Amino acid sequence: MLTLNFNPFPQISTQRLLLRAISPNDANEIIAIRSNKETMKYIDRPLTVSTEDALQLIKKIIDHAAANEAITWAITLQNNSSLIGTIGFWRVDKEHYRAEIGYLLHAGYHQKGIMQEAISAVLDFGFTTMQLHSVEANVNPANAASKKLLEKNKFIQEAYFKENFFYNGKFLDSVIYSLLRPLQ
Ligand SMILES: CC(C)(COP(=O)(O)OP(=O)(O)OC[C@H]1O[C@@H](n2cnc3c(N)ncnc32)[C@H](O)[C@@H]1OP(=O)(O)O)[C@@H](O)C(=O)NCCC(=O)NCCS
Repeated sequence: MLTLNFNPFPQISTQRLLLRAISPNDANEIIAIRSNKETMKYIDRPLTVSTEDALQLIKKIIDHAAANEAITWAITLQNNSSLIGTIGFWRVDKEHYRAEIGYLLHAGYHQKGIMQEAISAVLDFGFTTMQLHSVEANVNPANAASKKLLEKNKFIQEAYFKENFFYNGKFLDSVIYSLLRPLQ
């Protein structure tokens, strides 16, 4: 069984980014990202529009890390502490050393290589520090940006589930990608 320890919270620094713990002070930035219909087009979850909903989401993220159950980082630029996105292993299956990765970036920062920089550091953390054996991603088949990002990082499409996800009165398809821990 995997043993996780996210206390103290493990910040990650990359060339342009600082991945840090999320806090209630990030509520407005979370709303700015999660209330944008275009950004949320393939997330298939309700938009976050109220401060109350944003704080609830932030609390869940903080509680999961404090309990060593899952981890999500706030993505910030090195020279500016404002949250511009999130990335994390938001669901961890300790018994099987497997986690599901999720990420979301403010539309103003898309296609600048930011998520590539973040995912590469987070995958390294997942395999090296957390000792995961595999990482899964569950993607809406129409989400070309996310599929491209995963394929660039050597994720393999392992499944295509037809109409397995019921959202907003519709049954949606899902693509399941996975990446095994690289051989040492
Ligand atoms: C998916 C997402 C995180 C990508 O972030 P990003 O910082 O723009 O991605 P990057 O700039 O690091 O690009 C990574 C690769 O994906 C490609 N890519 C990015 N956006 C793309 C798009 N809209 N269409 C096609 N390819 C795209 C890039 O060209 C790059 O590949 P390349 O180096 O071979 O050119 C961003 O589009 C996003 O936040 N989308 C909304 C939330 C979401 O869908 N999350 C995923 C849920 S599964």
